Amino acid sequence: MTERERVQSDQAKGPPEEDPRIAGEKHPVARMIGIGVLASLVGIAITLLIDWFPEPAASSAGKIDTLYDVLLICSVPVFILVMTIAIYSVIRFRAKPGDMGDGPPIHGNTRLEVIWVTIPFIMVSALAIYGWITLEDIEAKQKDEMVVNVTGQQFTWTFEYPSEKVASKELYLPVDRPVEFKIKTKDVIHSFWVPQFRLKSDAVPGLTTKIRLTPDKQGNYEVVCAELCGLGHATMRQFVHVVPADDFQTWIADQKKAAGGGGAAGGGAGGAAPSGEELFTSNGCSGCHTLAAAGATAKVGPDLGKLGDVDARFIRTSIVDPNADIEKGFKPNIMPQDFGDKLSKEQLDALVKYLLEAQE
Ligand code: CUA
Repeated sequence: MTERERVQSDQAKGPPEEDPRIAGEKHPVARMIGIGVLASLVGIAITLLIDWFPEPAASSAGKIDTLYDVLLICSVPVFILVMTIAIYSVIRFRAKPGDMGDGPPIHGNTRLEVIWVTIPFIMVSALAIYGWITLEDIEAKQKDEMVVNVTGQQFTWTFEYPSEKVASKELYLPVDRPVEFKIKTKDVIHSFWVPQFRLKSDAVPGLTTKIRLTPDKQGNYEVVCAELCGLGHATMRQFVHVVPADDFQTWIADQKKAAGGGGAAGGGAGGAAPSGEELFTSNGCSGCHTLAAAGATAKVGPDLGKLGDVDARFIRTSIVDPNADIEKGFKPNIMPQDFGDKLSKEQLDALVKYLLEAQE
C-alpha cells in the first residue's frame, strides 16, 4: 500500500467533496465571496474616511494623496479576502477533539492558482507604473526654481539660500514659487520631512539628495526629522514659514542686514569671519543646548549659559573632547566628538570667546 492509499483509507468518511463539516451547506464559496465583498466595501469606506495626512500645503500633495487612496482601494479588498477565507476555514474546518487523522491528500487547483497569481501580478504592475508616472511628474524640473540647501546634523536643520548668500535656522519660502531642496548631512542619517508637503527625503552621509515642490498655501508648518538619529532626534523640529513673495524678500533683506552684509552662509562660507553666535547656531549647538544669549532653549545637553566658574580652556576642551568632563545628569557619547576637525582654529577661538562672554 502506498502512502497515499494509506492516507485515503484512513479517511473512512469519504473523499473531500463529501466533507461532513460542510456537507449540509449550500455554496460555502459563494457565501464566502459575499461576506468578502461586503466587508471590503465597508473596509474601503472606513480607510477613505480616515484623515491620514494633515492639510496639504504643496502642489504635489493632491497627486500623492490620490495615489495613497488608490493603494488603499486596491489593498483593503486583498487583505479582507485573505482574512475572510482564513477565518472561515479556521471556524468551519476545525478538527473535532480527539480527531488525530490527516487531512485528505489534495493536489491543488490549477485554475485557482492561475487566478491568484495573475490578478495580484496585474495589480502590482499597474500600481508600480502608476507610482512611477506620479513620481516622474512630481520630480520634473520647474521653471524659476529656487534652490535651498538643507543640512541636517545632530540635532538641528540649517537652511541656506545660495543665490542670496543667506543661512538660517528657520525655513522661509515664498508661496507658489517652485523650490528645489538639496539635502545633506554633517554626521548621521536624518530625514527631511514637512508632513503638509508630503515629500520626505533622507539626508545621507556622502550624498546630496533632492526633492522638488511648490508650496501653495501660506502658513507655518513643522520641519520634522523622520529618521532616528540619536538621543535628540525627537527635538529635531523647526519651522517652515510659507509667506507671500514680498514678505520673503523682506525677510531675506533682514537676514542679510543681521549678518552684517556677508559671511553668514553656513558659518564662514567666505567673507568676514563669522561671529561666535553665528557659529553657535550654524554648527548645531542650539539644537541641543540652552543659551539665553543666543535664544536657544534645547535641553539635550547642559545649559551653556550656566556653566559656573569656568575658563576658556575648560570650554575649549568640552567642545573638542566632550567626554572629558560630563555634567551631572547627562550621559557621555551624545555630543558629536568631531568639532575639533570641523571647526577651524579661528572659529574655535571665536566660539570659546563667545561662550565665555555669554555666562550669566
Ligand atoms: Cu535627525 Cu532624527
